[in-house]
Amino acid sequence: MSAVSAYRLTPRVTKFLSEPHKLLVGGKWVNAVSGETFPVLDPATTDEIAQVPAGDAADIDAAVTAARAAFETGPWATMKPTDRSRIIWAIADLIEAHADELAELESLDNGKPKKAARDVDVVGSAEMFRYFAGWATKIEGNQIPFASADPGAFFGYTRREPIGVVGQIIPWNYPLMMAAWKLAPALAAGCTIVLKPAEQTPLSALYLGSLLQEAGLPDGVVNIVTGFGETAGAALSAHPDVDKIAFTGSTEVGKLIVNASAGNLKKVSLELGGKSPNIVLADADLDLAIPGAADGIFYNHGQDCTAGSRLFIQKKIFDKVISGVVDRAKEIRLGPGLDPETDMGPVVSEEQLTRVVGYLQNGVESGARPLIGGKRHGDRGYFVEPTVFVDANPSMKIVREEIFGPVVAAIPFDNLDDLANAANDTTYGLAAGIWTTDISKAHTLAAKLRAGTVWVNCYGVNDPAMPFGGFKQSGWGREMGHEVLELYTETKAVVVAL
Ligand code: NAI
Ligand code: MG
Repeated sequence: MSAVSAYRLTPRVTKFLSEPHKLLVGGKWVNAVSGETFPVLDPATTDEIAQVPAGDAADIDAAVTAARAAFETGPWATMKPTDRSRIIWAIADLIEAHADELAELESLDNGKPKKAARDVDVVGSAEMFRYFAGWATKIEGNQIPFASADPGAFFGYTRREPIGVVGQIIPWNYPLMMAAWKLAPALAAGCTIVLKPAEQTPLSALYLGSLLQEAGLPDGVVNIVTGFGETAGAALSAHPDVDKIAFTGSTEVGKLIVNASAGNLKKVSLELGGKSPNIVLADADLDLAIPGAADGIFYNHGQDCTAGSRLFIQKKIFDKVISGVVDRAKEIRLGPGLDPETDMGPVVSEEQLTRVVGYLQNGVESGARPLIGGKRHGDRGYFVEPTVFVDANPSMKIVREEIFGPVVAAIPFDNLDDLANAANDTTYGLAAGIWTTDISKAHTLAAKLRAGTVWVNCYGVNDPAMPFGGFKQSGWGREMGHEVLELYTETKAVVVAL
């Protein structure tokens, strides 16, 4: 029996799944120019749940043309900021009104528990649109006094203008929320967009597309092209009429996007991988730190760019913390995301299953020891056991490379002096966690860690108002907060001789 029929779905999701899926281009739902489609699978069963259009270069071109027209001449370009704000707010309201449907689709498509999809992905997406609805009316330039000219000779000011047509390429780990993180600020800035969802998880973006229309977004402002990275994604990042690409995904593809952008020197922002240290000091409140360490890696099945995948624990509490994390791992119930008893679903795809299991084998071969887990779970669907490795050292692949699965390497440390160097010994720099009751150690260490976000006595807490992004090879630029508006606006200096 397929998962689609094994669980009772809401009538709207049943209807959505039974209808043909199309691309959203210039306000119209259309097939791919090639007529090709590809299957979308339920990762809990590997059953096919839908076919979506395999958009490629021709569809990207049509979508960019529609976005350009909407940017240059459409109503979006001349709309009052308050009207843009109202539409963005209405999108948030519609996401909430369809929360159950969106959570169900996300769970079916990605594999995550429906409750997590609802409480985190859907709520987080609505909140992102609300926050940026407020910014639509608050993007402003400055009046700048001249420094070296006669003060009475010139009047100078800046304008913040939308950057133009934006390509947004998003991953499969938080499909709806990544769409929201990307779309909301770009809409607030007045840009028009071509969104390419991940091929593994295109459904919630297509569902969102009809909500965008219902909210009153003019035609062509957001275009949605489903398709593969190597075809649709590559065409979007190389397109000569795209002004900016915003990407979330692997560091490897981030580098391809930088190369592809060189043709027209489009602006690029990148939110890439991580190998984040989660650090437990001996004075930590272990009632907080142990669940924090476990959730930091196991939440979303470890498929999180900020996953706390290197767990540094001070020696004198190492055994206690590790046994606490292992106990929590034991309690995790694996199952389909739509089963209300499930704590952890499958990883997203066969490719990810193979990748994660490869790391598990490599960890053992290189001398690390799994205290729990260490292999695939079951033989149907893409389930992986939550895994805690000890006896790991910094030269191992499981310590150096992003695994993107429920796999943590625990590393003991003694001395606080070397800790920051050990934690920073990575090509990445996305996030870090510190668990301590010593306020001075917390701030001293937070300053030394080379990471875009440092969480103290919490982990994975994001907010629309807080900037998010990476040092080093974890990316370029910051999403969320007022800082993201720099990614979607150009500054124009206007100089007037008086
Ligand atoms: P990926 O980087 O290949 O895919 C992410 C997005 O990029 C998808 O929409 C994909 O279609 C697109 N893409 C792929 N190749 C492209 C190209 N040549 N040009 C333009 N767009 C392209 O990631 P993948 O293969 O799904 O996962 C591999 C690894 O990447 C994971 O194991 C994980 O380590 C990392 N990853 C990191 C994410 C993050 O949130 N930072 C999210 C997803 C994956
Ligand atoms: Mg890939």
